[in-house]
Amino acid sequence: MLKINAPEYVLMTRYIEEHCGIHLEKDKEYLIESRLSDLLAETGCRSFQEFHFKARTDPTGRLRDRIIDAMTTNETSWFRDGSVWEYMETAAVPDLLDRAARTGTVRIWSAASATGQEAYSLMMLLDEAARRRGAPSLLDRIEILATDISTTALATAVAGRYDAIAINRGLPEEKRRKYFTQEGPSWVFDERLRSRVRFKKFNLQDPFIFPYRFDLILCRYVSIYFSESFKRAMFSKLANVLKPGGVLILGATESLREFSDEFDIAYHKNAVINTKKIPGLNHPGKEREIGYGYG
Ligand SMILES: C[S@@+](CC[C@H](N)C(=O)[O-])C[C@H]1O[C@@H](n2cnc3c(N)ncnc32)[C@H](O)[C@@H]1O
Repeated sequence: MLKINAPEYVLMTRYIEEHCGIHLEKDKEYLIESRLSDLLAETGCRSFQEFHFKARTDPTGRLRDRIIDAMTTNETSWFRDGSVWEYMETAAVPDLLDRAARTGTVRIWSAASATGQEAYSLMMLLDEAARRRGAPSLLDRIEILATDISTTALATAVAGRYDAIAINRGLPEEKRRKYFTQEGPSWVFDERLRSRVRFKKFNLQDPFIFPYRFDLILCRYVSIYFSESFKRAMFSKLANVLKPGGVLILGATESLREFSDEFDIAYHKNAVINTKKIPGLNHPGKEREIGYGYG
């Protein structure tokens, strides 16, 4: 495997941060060497300096996308973090369905959706809850947008097709039987629900321009890769596109406490529920035991 030297490391880490926000500290040379070695060989480059030049001067942007693909970690699973999904099932999903019945369209964003497990996990809970109410058509009023920067992760998400390893990560047997069909070595997610999730390529560095605001945003296990300034900017943009009283869920190791005062923070077991403050409402001022969002 080709080694990266110190000046090349500066060039490559700058390039990566500029294009996808992933901030690599010192001593991550092995990560760049291991993740980019195949691409380096494929492009015929004999040094990282040459590779960096090729990437910078590639007019098609294809090499940039392949570098981003190689450098992102698309790690995910079904119903990742039990207490978050317990909160979803017992509080968020019933409230989202109430909102749909009451006010019309409800909008959810799975930002950094990787291969789709997060958006589809939510879709299964919404489907089950709507049926239990005897109102399956409420799903017509719920829009789920799922975005990621990685082209290959999005392709898997759109196909809804998972291998035996991916399917076994966190998916209860009963849901697998109900919502997936086996096709050879793969499991394919229910077409009816799959088509309800809109997948789109989106870089969280870009401006968030939406003609509406979201009721719920899941932005999980992605801020861990970003610099402090990126996190601050991203949490501010997320607050702007969330409805007052809407909820933002992060990964268990992530927190917006140091970066934003636009949210009230509550807990459901280990899950942290960040609810966008409602102007004019007397805010509790201290953290609460149970989530309130959607009140
Ligand atoms: C570890 S996965 C988390 C997936 C899912 N949210 C979860 O919690 O299971 C992180 C995802 O963030 C995506 N990502 C990294 N940088 C990004 C950026 N600048 N814009 C959008 N997505 C990004 C990666 O492609 C990857 O799929």
